[in-house]
Amino acid sequence: MSGGGASTRPAVLITGANRGLGLEFARQYAAAGWRVLATCRDPISATALQEIAAAWEAVSIHALDVTDGEQLARLARELGTLAIDLLILNSAWLGPQAGQRMGELDATLFERSFAANATGPVSVAEAFLPHVERSAQKKIVFLGSAAGAIGVLRPPVNLYAYRASKAALHLLARALSIDLAPRGIRVGLVNPGLADTRGLLALGPDEAPPPDLAPVLQLVRAGVIEMITAEAAVTGMIGVIDALGPATVGQFLNYDGAVIPW
Ligand SMILES: NC(=O)c1ccc[n+]([C@@H]2O[C@H](COP(=O)([O-])OP(=O)(O)OC[C@H]3O[C@@H](n4cnc5c(N)ncnc54)[C@H](OP(=O)(O)O)[C@@H]3O)[C@@H](O)[C@H]2O)c1
Repeated sequence: MSGGGASTRPAVLITGANRGLGLEFARQYAAAGWRVLATCRDPISATALQEIAAAWEAVSIHALDVTDGEQLARLARELGTLAIDLLILNSAWLGPQAGQRMGELDATLFERSFAANATGPVSVAEAFLPHVERSAQKKIVFLGSAAGAIGVLRPPVNLYAYRASKAALHLLARALSIDLAPRGIRVGLVNPGLADTRGLLALGPDEAPPPDLAPVLQLVRAGVIEMITAEAAVTGMIGVIDALGPATVGQFLNYDGAVIPW
């Protein structure tokens, strides 16, 4: 990853940087010498992010709910003519399992998922387009999900609203990659793999996971699916982002660089 000194450091803006993969992105880019604009819904309660900001002078924290158009416009105005080399649209809302299974579908969960996971991230990309365009690296990266890839859909089929909103995001990312290429802006779409953002890998054999996550942990423990650490997922994705160029723009790429079918 290319970093730099105070005057030359590239800048990254990250959504949902208070926990999970967003927090890890903030940590790794800060450690690499980047200017990090870490956004989250509630900066006051973002204690882990505040610790990173206290440790690295080039990290600033900004309030941003990606579904709040007024807040988004205000932040874009506040950042003025700042150049943003890399925009990471990381935030997402998974929602509860209940209401996302056939037989009990809750339409309001679809509305909330699409706002948080599809239209919200694209609105953020649109609002910061001038900042990205005036930067050296000119990259916009969306966090997709294999859960929203139609080509790899397997049972058990659940999380209907989340899956549909991610499939919509994938289409939007692909469309943007084509739309913005003539302006020199590189749009990427990455999948983190199944990354442990809830401390499941640290649970002892007798410790119970949250009920929603018990089926996943069972499959991980049985060796059916692989779960990686948040640190490994983010390190892998940063490698993919570093390599984002004409050959990989607009593809759906796993954290290890493998192409995922749409
Ligand atoms: N972890 C995985 O295994 C995995 C697998 C595939 C894809 N992904 C994708 O990778 C990304 C990060 O995943 P994660 O596991 O780190 O998720 P996470 O731990 O659930 O964190 C989600 C983040 O998004 C934020 N967020 C939710 N709604 C928001 C909104 N309207 N505006 C701004 N921020 C909002 C949350 O903020 P609050 O704290 O305020 O709720 C939180 O910071 C997501 O796009 C996810 O879909 C993850």
